[in-house]
Amino acid sequence: MAKPYVRKDRFFQEAKAKSFAARSVFKLEEIDERLRLFKRGDRIIDLGCAPGSWLQYLTRIAGPKGMVIGYDLAPLTVSPGPNARFYQVDILTRSPEQIMTDLGQAVAEQKRHRADRKAQATQEGRAPASDQAPAVVERTPGEQTDGAEAIEHPASMQRYRIDAVVSDMAPKLSGVRDADQARSLGLASHALGIARALVGPRGCFVAKVFQGRDLDAFLLEVKGAFKQVKVIRPEATREGSRESFVIGRELKPIRGKPTDGDASA
Ligand SMILES: C[S@@+](CC[C@H](N)C(=O)[O-])C[C@H]1O[C@@H](n2cnc3c(N)ncnc32)[C@H](O)[C@@H]1O
Repeated sequence: MAKPYVRKDRFFQEAKAKSFAARSVFKLEEIDERLRLFKRGDRIIDLGCAPGSWLQYLTRIAGPKGMVIGYDLAPLTVSPGPNARFYQVDILTRSPEQIMTDLGQAVAEQKRHRADRKAQATQEGRAPASDQAPAVVERTPGEQTDGAEAIEHPASMQRYRIDAVVSDMAPKLSGVRDADQARSLGLASHALGIARALVGPRGCFVAKVFQGRDLDAFLLEVKGAFKQVKVIRPEATREGSRESFVIGRELKPIRGKPTDGDASA
């Protein structure tokens, strides 16, 4: 007999005790502990970031010189913090160029605040205080669409270093297994397009997927884009859930895409 669904399991309790917005944080934490994906100073794009536990985890790892840009249809339930920005939008309507612009603005603001603080501290003859740049929240109402779109690699866009694109996006479940899997893979495939367009050669990609008949085709897509590919089903995944995570590392070269060396900042 299947075990009953326990909403408030030990991961739920632990997330609450540690003030994380959701138990999902332990899935990312396990993936990171096993593969060592993220580091201090990283710039990370977090797709489907609400209520915000991955964002909390990633901003702690990235630290004050890192930056995490999160997107979701839903609002966050936690404050994004000074080294994060949140946009309440349908990611299917946000192009890689716009995401790069979002990051560019955040990085420029971060640098400006650091320079201002340093100048002020020098003037007052004391050490500069920690990062205080305000987090930006933008709301753009937009309809959710589930179709994945092909993403171009515009060579002309202003580039900043991006170390990782992570996606915990999940569609609203209809209960129709094949349809739900197709919509989940549509979102993962869209995230892969964003990762291919934006991360540098040493960049990584994490995406939630649902098991099902089209997963192999998606894995082939990820293997076409990244040199190392793994699938992990973290311990915090609920029993009976069909989700797992695909991780890609080291982006394969893409014709027409500038390399890290061209990134301006
Ligand atoms: C499992 S939750 C993410 C949990 C999050 N990683 C955390 O740790 O708090 C999945 C999220 O994907 C978001 N999502 C689904 N489709 C989306 C889309 N097209 N654009 C942006 N977010 C989307 C949902 O709104 C939902 O908040």
